[in-house]
Amino acid sequence: MKGIILHGGHGTRLRPLTHTGPKQLIPVANKPISQYVLEDMRDSGVTDIAIVVGDICPQKVKNHYGDGTKFGVKITYVHQHQPKGIAHAIGECREFVGEDLFVVYLGDNLLKGGIKKFAKSFEESNLEGMVLLSKIKNPQRFGVAKFDKKGNLAQLIEKPKTPPSNYALTGIYFFRPAIFEMIGRLKPSRRGELEITEAIQLLLEQRRSVCHKFVGGWWKDTGTYEDILDANRLVLEELKLDVKGKVEDKSSIRGKVCVEEGAQIKRGAKIRPPVVIGRNSIIGGGASIGPYTSVGDDTTVRRGEIENSIIMEHCLIDVNEKIIDSIVGAHSEITSGKAGKPKKRTFIVGEKSNIML
Ligand code: G1P
Repeated sequence: MKGIILHGGHGTRLRPLTHTGPKQLIPVANKPISQYVLEDMRDSGVTDIAIVVGDICPQKVKNHYGDGTKFGVKITYVHQHQPKGIAHAIGECREFVGEDLFVVYLGDNLLKGGIKKFAKSFEESNLEGMVLLSKIKNPQRFGVAKFDKKGNLAQLIEKPKTPPSNYALTGIYFFRPAIFEMIGRLKPSRRGELEITEAIQLLLEQRRSVCHKFVGGWWKDTGTYEDILDANRLVLEELKLDVKGKVEDKSSIRGKVCVEEGAQIKRGAKIRPPVVIGRNSIIGGGASIGPYTSVGDDTTVRRGEIENSIIMEHCLIDVNEKIIDSIVGAHSEITSGKAGKPKKRTFIVGEKSNIML
């Protein structure tokens, strides 16, 4: 089985972070979201992988994944020059797929438990398509499944105003090459994209064999800031104590905490799990980190409280206050006046930022 990871799109809801890189490279628990996807494929035996890149800094994707050797896979890059939708991106991989069966995984989707058992069951079948469904409360912003009386898949509807069920299409699809014929027949949807949901609907209408499976654990589409912080929490929840760096006061570290190589936790620092501290980062004695916080590599937190946040690599945080529910892009500095003095704040932020104090 081959694999396709979709790594394009404009990520408009995630600006300003997506002005400088694709959304799929945003780190969750210090690892790019699409790396979880790639590792899930690899661990399921899928090692021949195409990554479809868009026009937002594709070089950053190539720099991170290279030819795949580092991750134990072989990567082919496919360029989607315009964001014309998921089905269009898959269509661009026609040559890469050949006559194989394949899995498509949106590079911004995370699935607890992974795809291994689903990949195996698809391989053992003769199905033309298989979709993974997740039960959620408000499926309006997703593709939604409708079932017939026997519980078989009857219809798939993209972002319905009145959803026929609570089962959303996750961004993980298994196909045989018949899907390319359906993609070839698609017309742009209301949002101007070729919708994969409609291509699968065409398979269903032609009575080609398509089945569905329900995912057991959590599934997360990381389209918004809130989703990314949720995903960060869910992944950090699964950490195990792992201290490779230097901790001056060992009693300050308990539970789900990971301190990477070269990191230093100074005496007096408070670490409230779950927390990950990246390589060569320094947490000063006046800092309190966590819960649910990821601090990237080469970052210094001199003072300040940070909770439920992602601070990326090469940052400096030195404040008198608490930073909560935040995502701070790489190479940022947030500093404030000395304790006791009136608070004065200076921010250098990108377009369309959202600052809540
Ligand atoms: C896409 C699909 C939708 C699916 C979702 C999963 O939506 O069109 O059917 O439920 O991914 O993440 P989009 O992210 O393009 O809005």
